[in-house]
Amino acid sequence: RGEAAVEQYILALDEGTTSCRAILVDGRGKTAAAAQQEFSQYFPQAGWVEHDADEIWRVQLQVMREAAAQIDGNGIAAIGITNQRETVVVWDAITGEPLHRAIVWQCRRTSAFCEQLKAEGWEAEVRSRTGLLLDPYFSGTKLKWLLDEVPGLRGKGERGEALFGTVDSWLIWKLTEGAVHATDVSNASRTMLFNIHSLEWDAHILSKLNIPEAMLPEVKPSTGIYGYTRLLHDDGSIEVPIAGVAGDQQAALFGQGCFDPGMAKNTYGTGCFLLKNTGSKPVQSEKGLLATIAWKHGDETTYALEGSVFTAGAVVQWLRDGLGLIANAAESQTIAASVADTQGVYFVPAFTGLGTPYWKPDARGMITGLTRGITSAHIVRAALESIAYQTADVLRAMSAESGIGLRELRIDGGAVVNDLLVQFQADLLGVTVIRPKTLETTALGAAFLAGLGIGFWSSLDELRALWELDATFTPQRDEEWRQSVYSGWLQAVGYQV
Ligand code: G3P
Repeated sequence: RGEAAVEQYILALDEGTTSCRAILVDGRGKTAAAAQQEFSQYFPQAGWVEHDADEIWRVQLQVMREAAAQIDGNGIAAIGITNQRETVVVWDAITGEPLHRAIVWQCRRTSAFCEQLKAEGWEAEVRSRTGLLLDPYFSGTKLKWLLDEVPGLRGKGERGEALFGTVDSWLIWKLTEGAVHATDVSNASRTMLFNIHSLEWDAHILSKLNIPEAMLPEVKPSTGIYGYTRLLHDDGSIEVPIAGVAGDQQAALFGQGCFDPGMAKNTYGTGCFLLKNTGSKPVQSEKGLLATIAWKHGDETTYALEGSVFTAGAVVQWLRDGLGLIANAAESQTIAASVADTQGVYFVPAFTGLGTPYWKPDARGMITGLTRGITSAHIVRAALESIAYQTADVLRAMSAESGIGLRELRIDGGAVVNDLLVQFQADLLGVTVIRPKTLETTALGAAFLAGLGIGFWSSLDELRALWELDATFTPQRDEEWRQSVYSGWLQAVGYQV
């Protein structure tokens, strides 16, 4: 009709632990528009963390509309969703009201119950069925806690009047105005309720935890149409398909183009999550790593081996908000760079326990090696370095597991703009660290999945070609230095494990 064709985009919703983002991705994998907003964190008791699911929804809707308003509304071909994993939301199936604050993945309230399950010999069952370990990190024991503590919840759940979901399910349900209650395999694989071999909810574990199946979402592949939303605009004039869903760490693996077995990425967000693609089979770990589902595209399920570090970028936030040592995240680099090293100070940021490889939910944070000459700059530097040390622990476990070290590591996430941290990481690992141009890899992965879901992109090869290098960091220090600083770390972390 003589009109110029409207350029098409995929809208990625990235609902993280501390903020909601919405990013428009064009056909070349470039960010065309973005919006972001933080939301409230609740710490009702030591080691407990909660979110307000309604606030998450409101903030996500707002940033989604903000991003969408930057282009012609007809240009949005599909929505992809990615999210903080494991966090538990329960809501009323009729009114859509959350029935409790969301219990966040970091929350340790079910530590004692996990210990009890371990004592009863359940760890091996959990591991072989779900690929996970018995730790309060995962959704299952959090959901059981809610069912035990919230009056009437179990009855409602049994009657299908109360629904459970990780944050992806919550957003899908809200976006489709209650029409679709679903999740994807990657998110399901983090609940400790999902059998990663049969790709079904695990009846044996559900019965042990007394969780009614009627309240669980339907589990779908990570690509394909979940449902439609009219909520991009106030007037409901446009309907857009939700066509891709994955947990944020799996989405980042996808966004990094790690489609082949052996390829790995590390994302430096609130926590640090190192995932290695293991192909069409889960690899059960003896070294404290997790076997998890990376994604399912068509009939093909891809698995990953994961090392989870609970506190990484959050340490920088704590330097800012808790200690007031820095005014903003960028300042952490300049202050850390004002000293040559930490003078033997180590910072163990076990604010919410320790994940891979230690799995100590009751460990807590600690600073060691203080002497009279230590200044705030040494502490800031030690805090940054702790992110790299924890990653070294994970990589060591991975190498021990497979007998093969990584040759290179792709990195992403907010903290990797910090060159000092990335160079220290390369030095410490003795591995080349590679930073792509797009650091919004998590959102990009969600966009890729949704784009595949509607045929916006047609193949993994097409996506592979969109990955672009920004910088390569090669190790500058020798093995002797590595051994000496790393043994100091092991000693410090050893006080907690
Ligand atoms: O497993 C928790 C993880 O999904 C949180 O990711 O990006 O919010 O640190 P992030």
